[in-house]
Amino acid sequence: MSSNKKKIGIVGSGLIGRSFAMLFAGANYNVVIYDVDQNQIKNALADIKQQLKMLEENGLLRGKLNAQQQFALIKGVNSLEEVVKNAYLVQECVPENLETKKKAWRDIDALAGSNTIYSSSTSAFVPSLFTKDLKHRQNVIVSHPINPPYYAPLIEIIPAPWTDPEIVKKTRTIMTEIGQTPVTFSKEIVGFAINRLQYALLNEVWHLVTEGILNVEDIDKVMSDGLGMRYAFLGPLETTHLNAEGFVNYCERYADTMHSVSEDFKPPPAKYDEHKVKEIARQLEAMVPLDKLQERRNWRDLCLAKLSLLKKEMQEEWK
Ligand SMILES: NC(=O)c1ccc[n+]([C@@H]2O[C@H](COP(=O)([O-])OP(=O)(O)OC[C@H]3O[C@@H](n4cnc5c(N)ncnc54)[C@H](O)[C@@H]3O)[C@@H](O)[C@H]2O)c1
Repeated sequence: MSSNKKKIGIVGSGLIGRSFAMLFAGANYNVVIYDVDQNQIKNALADIKQQLKMLEENGLLRGKLNAQQQFALIKGVNSLEEVVKNAYLVQECVPENLETKKKAWRDIDALAGSNTIYSSSTSAFVPSLFTKDLKHRQNVIVSHPINPPYYAPLIEIIPAPWTDPEIVKKTRTIMTEIGQTPVTFSKEIVGFAINRLQYALLNEVWHLVTEGILNVEDIDKVMSDGLGMRYAFLGPLETTHLNAEGFVNYCERYADTMHSVSEDFKPPPAKYDEHKVKEIARQLEAMVPLDKLQERRNWRDLCLAKLSLLKKEMQEEWK
């Protein structure tokens, strides 16, 4: 099968750069990866080859091409120019440091053309923070994945105030095409949605654990065997809709309860108490020792891969 020929440039070949390379190759794009550290490119290509093989062996490979065909679409290069020139989309995946992002974007901007989508993987910086002075700033957007992107398909698409609406549309289209689930923000907001929700939860978890109300294992069960079971299939709003006779009825029934519980929430600590951090870490390490983190990550990825198959099957069932 021939590639669809459009070129995707990936800048930064760490965890997220590799994931995007695999996602785009899975959808038959030509992928070119660059990294300031040439060794990283070598490592990335070896890792991608092995991951694609593992996915194929487990029946989890995306797209219509086999692992070898997908791998053949991915090429490592040693200049940024080779990534940026004539690319349909450039996905920036450099470390989460504002100065590093600004520098990477200045370098990309100097080589950029006016028809390319310039997309950043940043988890925390709103795009206006690092695109304000760029010549091609109307082409830059944030496409924030959730880890691991191959199994958790959500992509947050966040435009800067000056991002061209056509770029927003095209980004959404291509992310859908590669099998991700884009959500489009009407304007930038700090923390986007994933991290706003994640930090709201972690804040409450911190209070419940450090006040000795629940231990680490049990608070995590509240999510993994409780709320998370539903949230794998329904969002918090549809959950409320189904838990009463619709959302209006839910608000009538539970507004007072929600208000009084929410009034008990505490603000996040300005600084995390070292002893409390160590105690949480001690309990976590008793569950998963530090030398078993990679093994546990592999297990998590397998769980998510199987869950994504179940989700697909259950979505078909609802149609
Ligand atoms: N890891 C996650 O869970 C996750 C999830 C979503 C988004 N993100 C975001 O994705 C981005 C990348 O994260 P990561 O975890 O892949 O980082 P990483 O540290 O694994 O990889 C970054 C890579 O970029 C390279 N690099 C540094 N400066 C560069 C430059 N100027 N040009 C080219 N390459 C450069 C480094 O050598 C490294 O290989 C970050 O903004 C991060 O916040 C990460």
